[in-house]
Amino acid sequence: MEFVDSKKTGKEVAVKGPVCVTGASGYLASWLVKRLLSSGYHVIGTVRDPGNCRKVEHLWKLEGAQERLQLVKANLMEEGSFDYAIMGCVGVFHTASPVTGVSDDPKGKVLDPAINGTLNVLRSCKKNPTLERVVITSSSAAVRIRKDAIDPNIHLDEFSWSNVDVDFCQRFKVWYSLSKTLAERAAWEFAKENKIDLVTVLPSFIVGPSLPTDLSPTASDILALLRGESVKFSWYGRMGYVDIDDVARSHILVFEDPSAEGRYLCSSSVLDSHELASFLAKRYPYLPIPKRFEIPVGNALYYEFNTSKLCNLGFKFKGMEEMFDDCIASLKEQGHIPY
Ligand SMILES: NC(=O)c1ccc[n+]([C@@H]2O[C@H](COP(=O)([O-])OP(=O)(O)OC[C@H]3O[C@@H](n4cnc5c(N)ncnc54)[C@H](OP(=O)(O)O)[C@@H]3O)[C@@H](O)[C@H]2O)c1
Repeated sequence: MEFVDSKKTGKEVAVKGPVCVTGASGYLASWLVKRLLSSGYHVIGTVRDPGNCRKVEHLWKLEGAQERLQLVKANLMEEGSFDYAIMGCVGVFHTASPVTGVSDDPKGKVLDPAINGTLNVLRSCKKNPTLERVVITSSSAAVRIRKDAIDPNIHLDEFSWSNVDVDFCQRFKVWYSLSKTLAERAAWEFAKENKIDLVTVLPSFIVGPSLPTDLSPTASDILALLRGESVKFSWYGRMGYVDIDDVARSHILVFEDPSAEGRYLCSSSVLDSHELASFLAKRYPYLPIPKRFEIPVGNALYYEFNTSKLCNLGFKFKGMEEMFDDCIASLKEQGHIPY
């Protein structure tokens, strides 16, 4: 085990890892890298272009980054691209995946990078004899999008799988859910065949401070809502919400806890857009939160999530107040919304 001098205490501390985080410059992955570094891990992050300063500068500013962060170039669409980053790691956190609903080329730009990209990462994992566990970021979109009716009395849990298909996606022009569902299914099949210790985390809509300079699709959607736009949240309808730090911490928890196995839903509260807007308008009366949303019938169906599997590992979720307070404070600090 490697030891380094802690700047804070002057004592020697053990360095954990190394672990690989794919898509390290993304909204969630940046927060995960921050959490891993602060927990003492050596992190190898993959990005498509390590030379793109605008995309990676925030990572180099993280505490511990100069000593324990390495950035390596890798692309989901290039076979073997992750071999170098993953070789020698004890853990892999695979978060990279296209986060876009609408696309002019759903197969090439959404489905292939998500599904074949995940298999590409897992093939690199298979080549690594030191690997202990892989954690993949799936999504509650791989659980909650159902063509059949959801019984409102039965809370959705890890046994539920979205049953979207190509026809459904073509009709609604939304491919994200299919990409996450098929990618997770493919990952489970590959892991079983190749005896890889895999755990998946399925976050709902992630809310929190954004570390990257440019806002991700999710962070931009929240900002648009806080500025009075209703289009995206009309479409979203009923959704679960979860704090970004909770999502990062849950990834590390299921990596470190030997008893963790299978899928883990990661979500704090489920609200429809009208409930969300009325909560936001009450708590932040100075923001122009929209009042009306035209929610498509299928997106307004009532459901709740049962997250007891993650809670049984000792996990506690932050509430809506804390997650939005942190998110709004950081958007103000970054100059996206006025004080
Ligand atoms: N945001 C949410 O509310 C939410 C909820 C549930 C699950 N998730 C999952 O969480 C993960 C991270 O999402 P996010 O919200 O943080 O989105 P994000 O900021 O857009 O991050 C996605 C990352 O994937 C990378 N990526 C996309 N295509 C790639 C390719 N062909 N090769 C290599 N890297 C590629 C992106 O790299 P570039 O920066 O180079 O584009 C980016 O770093 C995704 O798996 C997403 O499905 C997100």
